[in-house]
Amino acid sequence: MDGRLLIFSGSANPELAKEIARCLRMNVGRALVGQFRNGETRIKIHDNVRGCDVFVIQPTCNPVDHHLMELLLLIDALRRASATRVTAVIPYYGYAKQEKKTAGREPISAKLVANLIRTAGADRVLTMDLHAPAIEGFFDIPVDHLQAAPMLADYIHSLNLANPVVVSPDAGGVGRANRFRERIGAGLAIIAKQRPEPDTAEVLEMVGEVDGKTAIIVDDMISTGGTLVEAAHTLLDRGACKVYACATHGIFASDALEIIAQSSMIETIVTNTIPQSSLTSQARVRTISVAPLFAEAIMRIHKDLSLSALFA
Ligand code: R5P
Repeated sequence: MDGRLLIFSGSANPELAKEIARCLRMNVGRALVGQFRNGETRIKIHDNVRGCDVFVIQPTCNPVDHHLMELLLLIDALRRASATRVTAVIPYYGYAKQEKKTAGREPISAKLVANLIRTAGADRVLTMDLHAPAIEGFFDIPVDHLQAAPMLADYIHSLNLANPVVVSPDAGGVGRANRFRERIGAGLAIIAKQRPEPDTAEVLEMVGEVDGKTAIIVDDMISTGGTLVEAAHTLLDRGACKVYACATHGIFASDALEIIAQSSMIETIVTNTIPQSSLTSQARVRTISVAPLFAEAIMRIHKDLSLSALFA
């Protein structure tokens, strides 16, 4: 790709953007990302981007709509300022859980968001662990979909846990848990969960042997923490000696950190796709940085190199 490589950031995760830029030995581009007094989002790009290959780093985490709007306006501003190519780098893709209708008269929000990003002028998307891989197909532009599993698995492997068993906390996560299990050489257990209402999780049944083992729950995200804590109770009831958890996106909505702190979870490992507060340490949450992986992916996209090696 001709043209200079530039990185810009919205206000969602400026620390991650700085860390990615540091890995690439560059600075984050200068831009005003703020608000008018009437509450509308205000964007002004200060650097010249004409003819450049620009990457905008913005996870659409809470406040989701605000961060999404910043992303859309940043892309629009860059397009209008004649950037040659704009890549939306969305480490955490919000609205992903609304990727299908579960009842009549509901939106498919993840598809609408994909349309908005494309309409704003993004040429490509770089993201990580979409809640549903099918969301990739909601875009008619190239999507590079990174995975945090290799990093999370390396950390778990380094703990040398005795008798490890990887647990999927719901039926939808079995493929993910199985791939994780293969990486660390562990057994597999599967929990069947139901949601009697949104944001409430209930364990129905569990398949697999966990008695006397160290259980590692693997999920894509922790939102209210309900899924995690319910799964941990079940595992301990069935004889697991210790429970760890790994998830790419630590959303920690409402009192999630409190309930995790009060649970018997030994350690919960997440990444910094979403910025983490200092409260995480009280809940025994460890954060692993995805910045080096994103930096490598950005460099490869810029140089038109394959990204396959990053998915291994
Ligand atoms: C469910 O399909 C996801 O993979 C997660 O298990 C879920 O989003 C976690 O949500 P919560 O922490 O609110 O139970």
